Amino acid sequence: MLCCKHLSPTQFRQITYSPATTNYSTKSNISMDSGSNSQEPTFEFLAKKAYIPPSWAAHLNPLPSHIFSLGHFPTPIHKWNLPNLPKNTEVYLKRDDLSGMQLSGNKVRKLEFLMADAVEQGADCIITIGGIQSNHCRATAVAAKYLNLDCYLILRTSKVLVDKDPGLTGNLLVERLVGAHIDLVSKEEYASVGSVALTDLLKEKLLSEGRKPYVIPVGGSNSLGTWGYIEAIREIKDQLQKQNGVTFDDIVVACGSGGTIAGLSVGASLSDLGAKVQYSSFLPRIITTNTPKVHAYCVCDDPEYFYDYAQGLLDGLQAGVNSRDIVDIRNAKGLGYAMNTPEELTFVKEIAQATGVVLDPVYSGKAAYGLMKDMAENPGNWEGRKVLFIHTGGLLGLFDKTEQIGPLVGNWRRMDVHESVPRKEGTGKMF
Ligand SMILES: Cc1ncc(COP(=O)(O)O)c(C=O)c1O
Repeated sequence: MLCCKHLSPTQFRQITYSPATTNYSTKSNISMDSGSNSQEPTFEFLAKKAYIPPSWAAHLNPLPSHIFSLGHFPTPIHKWNLPNLPKNTEVYLKRDDLSGMQLSGNKVRKLEFLMADAVEQGADCIITIGGIQSNHCRATAVAAKYLNLDCYLILRTSKVLVDKDPGLTGNLLVERLVGAHIDLVSKEEYASVGSVALTDLLKEKLLSEGRKPYVIPVGGSNSLGTWGYIEAIREIKDQLQKQNGVTFDDIVVACGSGGTIAGLSVGASLSDLGAKVQYSSFLPRIITTNTPKVHAYCVCDDPEYFYDYAQGLLDGLQAGVNSRDIVDIRNAKGLGYAMNTPEELTFVKEIAQATGVVLDPVYSGKAAYGLMKDMAENPGNWEGRKVLFIHTGGLLGLFDKTEQIGPLVGNWRRMDVHESVPRKEGTGKMF
């Protein structure tokens, strides 16, 4: 779970990062780090580079100094032929589920900045924390190993499971394969002590052993991690420029710890995405501006909590904007974090069968369910609009739901192969 009620945004902002130097070429957003051996080939992937922010974000403070290339960007955007859309509504999908790093989804964008900072600070290991099926923890475990760092994960589980082997379902399999160290805590311990005290405890222990740990907060959602989705806005803007005037009226995304919506909304409000009209389906009026509004569907806590949390992240960047002006947050928690109703899972199945796109049940599945429900109940609010939905990944979470999903999917039978069918030569016999 990536909820973090007990954490204040100020606590996240206490993580410091080095200010950017400005003497780099401004031709591209990144330039190769000076000091690299000119004899060595300079492959872009897994390289640390000096970071140059987009001009419209250059006044934010502090600016990251470096970025690690961990993902495969730009991620594609394509039309998503969802069934039963309101009249003339078009939905496009930004495939951040295809961002790479072993299905790491939206977490790659944050980790590109966080891991660069860890390396800049001379860390030899990373500590982070989350729920037992945390996508963020798994993404961090993979990123750490890519960079030859050890990874320590504190995972929250139920009281009855906390003393048992956590198993190999979904994200756990990848975490354990890449050799992450796992410390289990109960939900009760997590709630009473809080994630900051828990990571501090582990940090002290590692420091006393002579290690140099770098702590990444829940979901990678601090002000530095926010840059991941500021960069994503630059990427979307570049993609739109190549599409001869295509614009979006709305951007829709899931929210679990707040960093993604903070980056998207401040990026969308500062940049000119070239969109036509901004409309908030939750306000009784049309707001005319050229900025698409970000609609967030939160899957834990509640909208008020996330408005405040995002505000802390934005204040940490001295953005001078009010979160309530730049993002609409709606509740899509349903039964609770990482819990699904049969209707939600049936929706995930139906979307997969109608469009080939598999949504995760915990984040994008709930956000898309909330969006489609609103479109069905209030079609007039969405008619004629172009909507960009960001698929933030999390597919390994589906493996934690196989028992619930099993009865929903059918379509198999024993093939009837009569022994009289003559053999024809093909590719091997496969045994
Ligand atoms: C797959 C997936 N989608 C969306 C989110 C939400 O992003 P954020 O934590 O930045 O709010 C998360 C993490 O919480 C996630 O793992």
